[in-house]
Amino acid sequence: MPCSTFSDAQVASLIKAIDSDGYAVLPGWASPVQLKELQALVTDTVAAAGNDYVALSGRQSVPGSPLDDWGSSHDFIDLCRRITQGATGERSSDTTLTQTLRCLTGNGGRKESLIFHYDSFVLTTIMPVCMPESGERGDLLMLPNRRPIRRSYLRNLMDKVLVDNQWVQKYLRNRVSGDNQTFTRIAMQPGHLYLFWGYRSLHTNMPVAEDALRATAVFHYHNVHGSSSLASRLRKSLETMKGQDMHEDVPQT
Ligand SMILES: [Fe+2]
Repeated sequence: MPCSTFSDAQVASLIKAIDSDGYAVLPGWASPVQLKELQALVTDTVAAAGNDYVALSGRQSVPGSPLDDWGSSHDFIDLCRRITQGATGERSSDTTLTQTLRCLTGNGGRKESLIFHYDSFVLTTIMPVCMPESGERGDLLMLPNRRPIRRSYLRNLMDKVLVDNQWVQKYLRNRVSGDNQTFTRIAMQPGHLYLFWGYRSLHTNMPVAEDALRATAVFHYHNVHGSSSLASRLRKSLETMKGQDMHEDVPQT
């Protein structure tokens, strides 16, 4: 994790790439040794889950691993803060990352794919641990920077409700199968770190074969409406109405 050496000019060029291309890449984020260690962790995790979809949330679920170290790394959090400032214009006071190790395989993995959504966090970073080398690769798919940072949680919720329904999801999936030009499609490489504006970009992942494995470490920074009490009340009401969780805080990329 080379972020302690990042200059202001390098941070500025990352922000510029995210703004113009939809994403930025930091190659070789994990060392070969760290990547091997994480791949072994994924193998054990998926086996324990009966070779089906599994997601481990938080540092406490991956103790002693590089993901534990990165999740509490002052340098990594500071890098996220400096980058996030590029989207918000303000320096965030958030001192933590929200992290998940997400393992897509089996039938459950297919169900967790192609769900388009906006994140609640300004910055989303993804480091692939395992990616299929042939067939369906589980590419990251996005319509970058489709909405601004909303001032109110209610306006943010309207964006989400407009996307989080079967008609729009079906429309978007049809666009994926019929048109390769619409979406920014990223074939991610294990060990690299991919950064994008998760809050502003409509995004998802392509599926992988049931007998393949796609594992990603996802780190989010700066929950835009995290301190809104209206946010938590409305979220609970809507979940009750819909009878399911809003696709809000569970990473789906
Ligand atoms: Fe996401």
